[in-house]
Amino acid sequence: MLRAIYPGSFDPVTLGHLDVIKRSCKIVDELIIGVLNNSAKTPLFSVEERVKMLEEATKGLKNVKIVPFEGLLVEFARRMKAKVVVRGLRAITDFEYELQMSQTNHKLEPEVETMFLTTSIEYSFLSSTTVKEVAAFGGDISQFVPSAIIGRIEEKMQSKIKRRV
Ligand code: PNS
Repeated sequence: MLRAIYPGSFDPVTLGHLDVIKRSCKIVDELIIGVLNNSAKTPLFSVEERVKMLEEATKGLKNVKIVPFEGLLVEFARRMKAKVVVRGLRAITDFEYELQMSQTNHKLEPEVETMFLTTSIEYSFLSSTTVKEVAAFGGDISQFVPSAIIGRIEEKMQSKIKRRV
């Protein structure tokens, strides 16, 4: 049985993430989406909100589980009994960071391998940061995020704007 972890911040989940999730699901028996809860970072969405959005976006995918985690990824992988970490590669600009991360993880835990999937071309420009930027200025994000979570993102942006005035 091959269990893999797809870790990330998912602030929020995009169609690019969902594409990697769906393709990974066909390769592995079980995919655990690890949602990083990092107190040093200040994400737009709380970890509970990010988990909820992922649950809504992955409804219907049978072999997916969403689990928040704190601390080292390799420790989380060990706890989950996962031997593979999945990461998406969009462009050469992602490569240096991803290489460093996978090699660090491999030094820390040689039993865990990182598997890279290249992002589908239509999502190669897409990031959670882009989505937040477009949404903050009232742009249309329907091409960028799963339809199930559009309302949540728009609501969050509205409440941010209201807090500022
Ligand atoms: O979606 P992101 O923000 O690119 O995901 C980054 C993530 C969560 C995979 C990475 O920050 C991570 O694994 N953090 C946990 C801490 C850790 O294990 N660091 C050591 C590897 S350099």
